[in-house]
Amino acid sequence: MAMGETAILQYRGKNYELPVVVGTENEPAIDIRQLRAQSGLITLDDGYGNTGACESAITFIDGETGVLRYRGYPIEELAEKSNFIESAYLLIFGELPSAAQLKEFRKLLSDHEFIHEDLRHNFEGFPPNAHPMAILSAMINAVGCFQSQVVQPSDAESFTVAAARLMSKVRTIAAASYKKSIGRPMIYPRHDLYYTANFLHMMFSKPYQNYEPDPEVVRAMDLILLLHADHEQNCSTSTVRMVGSARANLWAAVAAGVCALWGPLHGGANQEVIEMLSQIHASGQSVESFIIKAKDKHSNTRLMGFGHRVYKNFDPRARIIKQACDAVLKKLGIHDPLLEIAKKLEETALRDPYFIERKLYPNVDFYSGIIMRAIGIPVNMFTVMFAIGRIPGWIAHWREVQTTPNARINRPRQVYQGAVQRSYVPIEQREWAAPQTLSSATASR
Ligand code: SDX
Repeated sequence: MAMGETAILQYRGKNYELPVVVGTENEPAIDIRQLRAQSGLITLDDGYGNTGACESAITFIDGETGVLRYRGYPIEELAEKSNFIESAYLLIFGELPSAAQLKEFRKLLSDHEFIHEDLRHNFEGFPPNAHPMAILSAMINAVGCFQSQVVQPSDAESFTVAAARLMSKVRTIAAASYKKSIGRPMIYPRHDLYYTANFLHMMFSKPYQNYEPDPEVVRAMDLILLLHADHEQNCSTSTVRMVGSARANLWAAVAAGVCALWGPLHGGANQEVIEMLSQIHASGQSVESFIIKAKDKHSNTRLMGFGHRVYKNFDPRARIIKQACDAVLKKLGIHDPLLEIAKKLEETALRDPYFIERKLYPNVDFYSGIIMRAIGIPVNMFTVMFAIGRIPGWIAHWREVQTTPNARINRPRQVYQGAVQRSYVPIEQREWAAPQTLSSATASR
C-alpha cells in the first residue's frame, strides 16, 4: 500500500485530511476508515459503484480498457495456454503450480470426487422442477456437514484439502441434480478422467453407455469454467467475503455466493440470454424491433448479456467466448440460428447511440450460452456452470478475507430515512395506515 498523497474534505467550515491509498496498478482510493470519527460523516454509495470494499491481490480488472488478470496473468494468455484446474490453483494459491504441485492437486480432486452415499437421498427431497441453483446451494451446505474438521484458512494442509473437496464435489452435485431433473440414475465419477471430462461424463453417461466427450467439447467446457473463475468484487464474490468476514465456514460462505449468483442481473443472465435469443427466434421479430424495446424503460426488457458495472469497454471474456463459439460449432458441425441472432444484436447495439452513450458492451454471459447449448448443457444448468467455474475465485476470496491482518467483520452503515421517534398507540386508538416503504417514507418528509 503506497502512502503519501492525501485528499482534503471541507465540511461546515472545517478541513479533514484523508489519506489516499494507491494500489499496485496505480488506482487511487480515499481511505475513509477514520472519516466518521473525525467528522461525524459517513459516505453513501447505493450499489457500491464508487466504493472499494477491501484491498485484494487476487484479480485485477480495468473496466475502461477491458483488462482482466488472474494474479497478474492476462486472461487472454491463460485462456490460450492454461486450463481450468491450473488457473484455479493460481487463483487459490497465488502462483502457477509446478508439475508436482499440479499433479498433487489433481490427485486431491480425484480423491474427493464422490459425495457421501447418504447424501444421494437428499436429492429425493427436491421436486423434479427444482432449479439446479437451489439444489447446488443446499447440497453444498449438506456436503459441508461431512467435513470432519473445521478448516483453518491459515492451515495450508487442511485448507488445500477443503478447497479440493469443494471444487471436486460441486461437479458431482451439479451432475446429480441434472440426472435427478430428468429422472435418470446418477452416474458415479470416473477416476481416470480429468476434472472437466469427468463432469461431462457424470452429466451425459448412462449406466449402460459411457459418454466419451469429444476433446474439443472438453476444451470448450474447460475454457468456459476458466473464464468464469474469478472477477474481483462482483455481487456473489462480495457475498462470499461478507459471509466469510463473520468467520463463517467455507461451505456456508460459498453456498451464499451461489444464491447471489443466481440473480438474473448477475450469473443468471446466461440463462436469460438464451431465453431472449430463443424468444426472438421463435417470434420471428426483427433484431431491430427487439433493440427498440430494450431501449424503452417502460418495456421491462433489457438486452441481456449486455452492460456491466465495471467494463465500459468489451468484456475480454466475451471476445474470447465469441471466437470459441465459431470454432466449437464448426468442429461439431452445428449451425445454431441463435448465434446469428446474437451477432446481429451485438452489431446493431454497438452502432446505436443508446448503447454507445451508456458504454454498454457484450459481457461474459452474451455468448457463453451458445457454447453450452452446443455441448448439450440444458439451459437451466447454465448458471450452475458459472458457479462451478467461480468456485476457485470464491475459495481464494474467502481465504483472503479471513487471513487479512486485523480483518474486521463487514458491517456497512446506512442513512436512516424511516419514521422519527414516536410513542406507542393502543390498538383501539389506531386508524388503518398503508405500510410504509422507503419511497413513501422519504416522499412524506
Ligand atoms: C455478470 O460484477 C461482475 O463482475 C459480474 C460478472 C462476473 O463475472 O461476476 O461479470 C458477471 O453478472 C455480468 C452481467 C450479467 N447481467 C446482464 O447481462 C443483465 C443485463 N445487464 C444489466 O442489467 C446491467 O448492465 C448490469 C446489471 C450488468 C449493470 O448494471 P448497472 O451498472 O447498475 O447499470 P444500470 O442498471 O444503472 O444501467 C445504466 C444505464 C441505465 O439507463 P439510464 O437509466 O442511464 O438511462 O444503462 C442501461 C440502464 O437502463 N442499461 C441497459 C442495459 N444495461 C444497462 N439497457 C438495456 N439493456 C441492458 N442490458
